[in-house]
Amino acid sequence: MHEVPHREHGATLLFGVGELTTNVPGVAGADDPDDPTAVVRDAAILLDGGRVAWAGREADAAAGVEEAIGRAPDRTVDVGGRAVIPGFVDSHTHLVFAGDRAAEFEARAAGRPYAAGGIRATVASTRAASDDALRAGLARHVAEAAAQGTTTLEVKTGYGLTVTDEARSVRLAREVTDEVTFLGAHVVPPEYAGRGDEYVDLVCGEMLRSCAPGARWVDVFCETGAFTPEQARRVLSAGAAAGLGVRVHANQLGPGEGVRVAVSLGAASVDHCTYLSDDDVAALAGSWADDAPGTVATLLPGVEFSTRQPYPDARRLLDAGVVVALASDCNPGSSYTSSMPLMVALAVREMGMTVAEAVRAATAGGATALRRSDVGRLEPGARADLVVLDAPSRTYLAYRPGVPLVSGVWREGREVHP
Ligand code: NIG
Ligand code: FE
Repeated sequence: MHEVPHREHGATLLFGVGELTTNVPGVAGADDPDDPTAVVRDAAILLDGGRVAWAGREADAAAGVEEAIGRAPDRTVDVGGRAVIPGFVDSHTHLVFAGDRAAEFEARAAGRPYAAGGIRATVASTRAASDDALRAGLARHVAEAAAQGTTTLEVKTGYGLTVTDEARSVRLAREVTDEVTFLGAHVVPPEYAGRGDEYVDLVCGEMLRSCAPGARWVDVFCETGAFTPEQARRVLSAGAAAGLGVRVHANQLGPGEGVRVAVSLGAASVDHCTYLSDDDVAALAGSWADDAPGTVATLLPGVEFSTRQPYPDARRLLDAGVVVALASDCNPGSSYTSSMPLMVALAVREMGMTVAEAVRAATAGGATALRRSDVGRLEPGARADLVVLDAPSRTYLAYRPGVPLVSGVWREGREVHP
C-alpha cells in the first residue's frame, strides 16, 4: 500500500485515548489480564520512526516517553477520548481486475444463485484492460480500503489466467503491497475448457516460474466448478517447492476436502470455511494443538452478504480452539466491498462473535493468517499502524453499522487519512 498520500512527522504522542485495543495479552495497564485484546483505558501511544515506541496508561506516559526516546515528542495529538485499535489487516482481496458484475449481483437479488463461473467474465475484462487501467483500479480500491482503516492488504492474482496476464497481475499487485498471492488456479480459463489437468500443468510449470519471484503466497480455489482436491494439492505443492507460503480457498459453496487439503499441507490460512464438517473443524483445531502456528480459518462474510449464502459459524471454530481471521475478499463477483468495519459488524451480528473476537480477528487474526508479527498489535517495536475511531469504544463498529467511524488512520507512524 504505497499509493496513499501521507504526511511525515517525528515522534508523535497520541493521548486522550479513551480505549486502546493492543492485542498484547499481559500488557501493563490492561483492564483485564485474561482479555486477549488487552484493552488499556485512558491511554496514550507513542509513535517513532514508523514503529510503536511506547503504549500504556496516559498517567504513565511522561515516564514511558522519557524511557523510550529520552526527549519530548515532536508532536502531541489529543484524540479526545476516542477509541484506538490496530490498523485492520485485510488478508484476502482480489484487487487486480477490470470491469464490474453489478448485473450478476442484481440477478442474485432476483433469485439466481452465485456460481464460480462468473469469475470468467472478470477474466475477459481484465485481459482486455491496459496496465494503466488496472493500476488505476488498484489505486482507487487501496485508497478506499485505507480510508476505512486497512493498513495491511493482501492482493491475489487470478483474473489473468495466462502466463503473461498472471505475471502482469503479480507485477501490478507488487506495486501496492508486499503480500502478493499467485492464484493462477482460480478457475480453468475458457481456452482450457474440459482440459483442467493440462491447465494445472501450465499453472505448476511456466506460470509458476513467471509468477513466483514477485509473490509471497500460492493459493487455489478448491471447489466443485473450480479445482479438485488432487489438482489443488499439485498446485500448492509446486508453489511450496518454489518457496511460496500456502493459502487455500475452500468449502465456500458446499462441503468438500479443501480444508483438509489445506491443513495437511500446513497452509497458513484456509479461506471461506462456510460449509464445514466436524472432521474439518477437528483438523483445523488439531493444527493449533502444539506451539507452532496452525492453519487460520479466514472467514469472509462479505461473500455471504453478497451471494446470499448462510454465514460461516465462527463460534463453532473459536470454541474448538481454531484461530479465526476476518477479511473482505474484495472482488467484483462475490464481495465487492473493501470495508473491514462491515466485516466486524457482520461477524458480530451473524456469526456468533463477540466484539472483542471480531476486532481481534480483523487485526491480529489477519496478521497470523499472513504469518506477520509486526502488524495487528500495538506494542513497542510493532509497526505504528492504527485507527482512531470517532467513537468512545470499538463496540461502535458493530453497534453503528454502515456509519463512517474511521476518523484517523496512521500507517508506519504517518497519518495517511484523512
Ligand atoms: O474468493 N471463491 C473464489 N474466488 C472469489 C470469487 C471471485 C469472483 O466471483 O470473481 C472468492 O469469492
Ligand atoms: Fe477470494
